[in-house]
Amino acid sequence: MNIPHLGVGMGFRSNYRAELFLNTKSVDFLEITADHYFTQNSQKLDELALLKENFTLIPHSLDLSLGSAEGLDKYYLEKLAKLVDYIKPYYWSEHLCFTKAGGISLGHLAPVPYTQEAIDVFCKNIEIAQNFIPFPLILENITTSFLLPGSEMSEAQFIKKIIETSNENNKTSNKNLSVGLLLDVTNLYINAQNLGFDYKAYLAEYPTEYVVQCHFVGYYTQKIGEKNWLVDGHAHYTNPEIWEILEYVVKNTPVKGLILERDENFPPFEMIKKELSQAREFFCK
Ligand SMILES: [Fe+2]
Repeated sequence: MNIPHLGVGMGFRSNYRAELFLNTKSVDFLEITADHYFTQNSQKLDELALLKENFTLIPHSLDLSLGSAEGLDKYYLEKLAKLVDYIKPYYWSEHLCFTKAGGISLGHLAPVPYTQEAIDVFCKNIEIAQNFIPFPLILENITTSFLLPGSEMSEAQFIKKIIETSNENNKTSNKNLSVGLLLDVTNLYINAQNLGFDYKAYLAEYPTEYVVQCHFVGYYTQKIGEKNWLVDGHAHYTNPEIWEILEYVVKNTPVKGLILERDENFPPFEMIKKELSQAREFFCK
């Protein structure tokens, strides 16, 4: 993908709006939740216009449900296409999961079994999405508490096949578009700990050459029965192990941008700036 070095940014959260405009130099780019702007609400649309004027924006959608065998929700897709066309970003992003079944939103990023059948579903939906939205797309790994029965391969092999097939499909149809990866290093670490694998072994199978962006944030631990489970709370300062993986990924992939993905338990903006600076120390030297 022909994307410049974007630097270190954050997921836009409206409670930081005032601080953001006072600190535009501390945030290199912003990821916005696309779904929040599928609206006619003039306040939200004014906010979007102001963000666009002051920051490089990347839309991140939550409910396209690329893993749904029933296909994509055309109504959702049209709203997303309109938003992406308005922003004209370097790329947009979605998750490798399904969020809708029988036309109903589950309100959750649900995993699929890692099978050839699921790969075919993703690749077909990605092709349809890119017909509607002619901008590069990057795909994010999610957390899961267990491996679904029937899986025929590892998650990394599954992602590799989706990426390679989708890019091949684009080439065959002469679409000058690409599909890349959004590697959420916190999700990777949580899955590695909860499911019992080594993240470096995962990355050895994962198509690292396609990584465009990373998400990072802290996790917390919850004791369930005898086991300590790691939880993707988006509510804590980035843990030392996450910094270590992020630095490893920066050294070993062509990643262009890092996004701090804090959603709850919001600290003073100075603390956010501190985390962004810490990432910049090894990413923007
Ligand atoms: Fe994420």
